[in-house]
Amino acid sequence: MSDAYLDAPVVLRVENVTAGYGGSPIIEDVTLDVRKGHITAIVGPNGAGKSTLLKAISGVIKVTSGHVFVLDKETTNLPPEKLVRRKLAYVPQVANTFPDLTVKENLEMGGYTRKHGVAQRIDALGELFPDLKKSLRRKAGALSGGQRSMLAMARGLMLDPEVMLLDEPSAGLSPILQSALWEQIENVTATGVGICVVEQNTRRSLRHAQWGYVMVLGKNRLDGPAEKLLHDEEVIDLYVGRMS
Ligand SMILES: Nc1ncnc2c1ncn2[C@@H]1O[C@H](COP(=O)(O)OP(=O)(O)OP(=O)(O)O)[C@@H](O)[C@H]1O
Ligand SMILES: [Mg+2]
Repeated sequence: MSDAYLDAPVVLRVENVTAGYGGSPIIEDVTLDVRKGHITAIVGPNGAGKSTLLKAISGVIKVTSGHVFVLDKETTNLPPEKLVRRKLAYVPQVANTFPDLTVKENLEMGGYTRKHGVAQRIDALGELFPDLKKSLRRKAGALSGGQRSMLAMARGLMLDPEVMLLDEPSAGLSPILQSALWEQIENVTATGVGICVVEQNTRRSLRHAQWGYVMVLGKNRLDGPAEKLLHDEEVIDLYVGRMS
C-alpha cells in the first residue's frame, strides 16, 4: 500500500503553515502532503484546528507563515476563486450547496468558470454519482443528507480539480450512508484526484485513507500509513477509542 502511495506525485504540499483568526495562532508549523489518487486523512480531537487548516490551505483565512503548493506551484494566500483555477477544490462542512436551487443548477454553479463542457461534465459526474443523476431536477434542499454530501463533492469536481479538501463529509450520516459516501470518495480518487479529508469518525477515515496525520492543539502530533495509525496503541487510546 504505502509503496504505491509514496510513488504517487504530491499534488498538495503544506509546509510549516501557521494560521489563525487574528489573535494567537490556531495552527502552528503544520506540514503535510496529499498525493494523486490517494486519500490523506487528518484526525484529532475537537478543536485541534483541523477545519482551520483546511481554511488556511483554501484561502479562506490568512497563512501568517509557511507555504502552500498545489501541483508544485506556490498558492499561499491566493483567494479561493483563484485557487479553483489552480485545481484545488474545497468543500466546507456547512453551506456547501444551495438548497433552493436544483441539483443541476448547483452543479452548473460549481462549473461557473468553465467555458465549455458543462453539460458533458455533469453527465460524467452523473456516472460517478448515480444517485444525483436520478435527482437532477430536485431541489438540493429536498435531498437526503447523504445525497447532499455527494452533491457538495460533485459541485467541487465540476472544475476538474487535482486536489479536493473535504471537511467532515460524513457528519450526521447513518453508518450505512457513511459507507456509501466513503465508497464514493474512493471512486473519486480512482479518477486521479488527491483527497485530503477531515473526519470525526477517526477509525473509519483511517480505514479508507492511505496516510493519516494526527493533529493535536494545532500541531501535527504524528503521521504515517493510515493502517499503522489504526493499530497504534497511543492513537487508539487517545483519538480512536477501542469501541468506535
Ligand atoms: N471563526 C473563528 N474565529 C475565531 N476562532 C475560531 C474560529 N473558528 C474556530 N476557531 C477556534 O479555532 C480552534 C480550532 O477550531 P477548528 O474548528 O479548526 O477545530 P477542529 O479540529 O475542526 O474541531 P472539530 O473536530 O470540532 O470540527 C478552536 O479553539 C476554535 O474555537
Ligand atoms: Mg472542524
